[in-house]
Amino acid sequence: MSHERLPTDRPAVVTVGLPYANGDLHVGHLRGYVGGDLYARALRRVGQQTAFVCGSDMHGTPVAVNAAEQGVDPETFALEWHEQYSERFPAFNVEFDNYGHTHDETNTELTQAFVSTWIDGDHILEREIEVAYDPEADRWLPDRYVEGTCPYCGEPARGDECDEGCQRHLEPGEIEDPTSTLTSNEAEYRTREHKFLRLSDFQAYLQEFIDRLDGTENASNQPREWIEGELQDLCITRDMDWGIDYPGSAADDLVLYVWVDAPIEYVASTKQYSERVGAETYDWEAVWKVGNETRPGTEWNKEWFEDSGEIIHVIGRDIIQHHTVFWPAMLRGAGYNEPRAVLATGFVGIDGKSLSTSRNRAIWAKEYLDAGFHPDLFRYYITTGSGLERDVDFSWDRFAQRVNSELVGSLGNFCYRALLFAHRNYGGTPDTAVSEAVSERIETALDTFEDGVAAYDIRTIGNVGIELADFGNEYIQRHEPWNLIDEDPEKAAQVIRDCVQLTKACAVLVQPVMPAKATRLWEQFEETGDPGEATLEDALTPPPSQFGEPAELFSQVEDDHIADLNETLRQRVAEASEDDGSTETGDEATPADIEPLEDDRISFEQFRDLDVRVGEIVTAEPIEDADELVVLEVDLGVETRQVVAGIKQRHDLGTLPGTRVIVLANMETAELFGYESDGMVLAAGAEADLLTTHGDAPPGTQVR
Ligand code: 2FM
Ligand code: ZN
Repeated sequence: MSHERLPTDRPAVVTVGLPYANGDLHVGHLRGYVGGDLYARALRRVGQQTAFVCGSDMHGTPVAVNAAEQGVDPETFALEWHEQYSERFPAFNVEFDNYGHTHDETNTELTQAFVSTWIDGDHILEREIEVAYDPEADRWLPDRYVEGTCPYCGEPARGDECDEGCQRHLEPGEIEDPTSTLTSNEAEYRTREHKFLRLSDFQAYLQEFIDRLDGTENASNQPREWIEGELQDLCITRDMDWGIDYPGSAADDLVLYVWVDAPIEYVASTKQYSERVGAETYDWEAVWKVGNETRPGTEWNKEWFEDSGEIIHVIGRDIIQHHTVFWPAMLRGAGYNEPRAVLATGFVGIDGKSLSTSRNRAIWAKEYLDAGFHPDLFRYYITTGSGLERDVDFSWDRFAQRVNSELVGSLGNFCYRALLFAHRNYGGTPDTAVSEAVSERIETALDTFEDGVAAYDIRTIGNVGIELADFGNEYIQRHEPWNLIDEDPEKAAQVIRDCVQLTKACAVLVQPVMPAKATRLWEQFEETGDPGEATLEDALTPPPSQFGEPAELFSQVEDDHIADLNETLRQRVAEASEDDGSTETGDEATPADIEPLEDDRISFEQFRDLDVRVGEIVTAEPIEDADELVVLEVDLGVETRQVVAGIKQRHDLGTLPGTRVIVLANMETAELFGYESDGMVLAAGAEADLLTTHGDAPPGTQVR
C-alpha cells in the first residue's frame, strides 16, 4: 500500500518497537532500528517534519525474570541495559530524537491517564479468571513465569505469547499444561480478579481501521482473522510488583500489563522530545491527537485525517497483533490518533539457520563493531538485501561479497574516479551545465526515492543511490573521459561535469541508509552544510567549482578477516551446544520430525538415471500470488535453465544469486503458475534448506 500525499502539512512520528531492557542487542534487533532510522531520514528528505522516537521497555516479566537470574532488582537491571542501548544505537547511526524509557515519569503519568480515560469511557471490566500459581514458590505466575503448550497451534509457548508457533498473544489462563519457570513444577490454576479492556467495544472500529492501514502487507493481513472473529477482552493487569500501578486504590496490588505501558511510551517519548525542542519546533499533540485534542470514543471520523499527523510504527512481525489490534483500540479508547502505517520486519537468520540467543547463534551488535566494520556497511546490507517483510539471512560471507561488489566496486569506485578526475583536471566541478540525459536520470532516481517513501519501501529507498552509482560507472566507462581529455576536451568536461553531479546526487540519496558515508562524500566535494539537511532538489544543484583530492569511501573486506569471524561463530555455537548438552544439527528438527529411512532399495543403475548437477543461481524472482514459489535462472555449465522452486518464504531472494545449488536436471518439465520449470533444485526439510557444494565444483559438474 502506499501513501498518496507525502509530505503532509502535519508532523510525522516514526517509532521502532521498544527493546526489552534485558540483554545484549544482536543483528536481528538492529534490522528494525536501522530500518526505522532510514525511513525517518528519508521522510525528512522529502520535506516531511519528522520525529524519530523510541525507548527501553523496562517492565514486565521479560525484565523481571532476567533481573532475578542476576540477583539484581529489576529497576537497577533495566536501567543498566537502558544506558547501554542509549550508546549502542548511535554507534549504528541510529539517531533517535528522543530515547526514553517506560519507567520514567512522563510514561507513568501518560499511561495512568490512558487507563483512567478507558475507565471513564466504560471500556474496563473486572472479571474473575484462572491464573497460574506455583504453590511451592507461593507466587502467581504471570507471563514468562509460566510455560506450556499453545492452545491454538500446539507448539511450546510462554504464558502470554506463542513465541515458537503461531505468534499469538495468549491471555492469562489460556496456556495448556502450565509449568512454573520458578520451580519447574506443574502450575495450578487459581481464581483471581483482574481488569480487562473490553476490546469488543472497538471491533467495528478495528475492522475499518485495518482496511485503511498502510505499511507492509503482513501487518494488515495477519490480524484480519482476529479482527473478524470474536475479539477477546485484553487482561491489562498482572500480579507483580514491578510495573506501573493500576490507577486508583481499588487495585493497589496489581500493576499494568507490560503491553499497556510499552506502546504508550511511543507517545511519551514524542512528548519528551517536543518539550525539549519546544512545541513551535515539533508539537507532539499535532501528531498524536486529533486537531490537538483527545476525542475518546469507539469510532473514527474520516475528516480527522486532515487534523492529525502521520504515525508510522516499525516493528518485528512477532508483535503485529499488539500493534494492529490492541494498540489502535487503546489509542481510540483514550481519544488519540491512529497509526497510519505499520511496517513489520521478517526475522533475521544466521547463515541460513534461525538466530538463537540461547545457542549463541547470533551476531552481536558489539561484535560487529569490534570487528572494525563501519556501521553504514551493516545498515546497507541489512536494509537492501530484500524487502522488509521477508526473512533475511546474515552471513559474513554474503556481507563481504555485497560490500566488496556494491559499495567498494560500485558506489565507492564511481565517486572516487569521478571526483579524482575532476580534481586533477579541473580543480573541481567543470564549468559547464549538466547534460539533459544525466539530469533526467537523476530526476528518475529522485522519483524512485519519493515513490519508495510513499510506499514505505525501505529497500527501494536504500538501493536508489547505489543504482545511480551503477549508472555513473557505466556512463564514465562508456565515455572514457581519460581519452576524451585530449581528443575532445569539451566533451570530456561535459562527461566529468555530469559525473560530479551524479556523485552529489548519490550523496543525497544514500544519506538515509549510510549517513556517515554520505557526510564523508559531501565533504569531499567541499559542499557546505550537512547532507542530512539537504533536500532532494539539492541533488541537482551545482557542486562547488573547487575541491581537493578525494579519498576512497570504502575499503575491501578481506577474506581472512571473514574466515576468522566465521570460525569464531562456529566455535561459539558449538560451545553453547555442548553447554546445554545438545548437538548442534543446524536445523531444529527433533527425532519425532524425521521420517524413518526407506526400506526399498534402488539399484546403482537406477541412481545413474538421475542426472544430478551442480548449478549456480543467476537470478531469483518471486512469483506474484504464489506464496512459496520463486523463478530461478540456474547456470548448469552447458546451459542456463529456468527452475521454479518453493523456497520463497524461507530464503532472502536478494542473497540467492551466486549460490551453488544441486539440481536434478532430468526431472520432467512442469508448468507452475504459468512458468515452465525445467529441473528441480534439491532442498532439505520443511525449511527448504538448499543443498550446495563445499568445494569449487563448477556449474555442470555431475553429482555421483
Ligand atoms: O516484543 C518486544 O520486544 C517488546 N519490548 C516490544 C514493545 S513495542 C511497543 F509497543 F512498545
Ligand atoms: Zn500458537
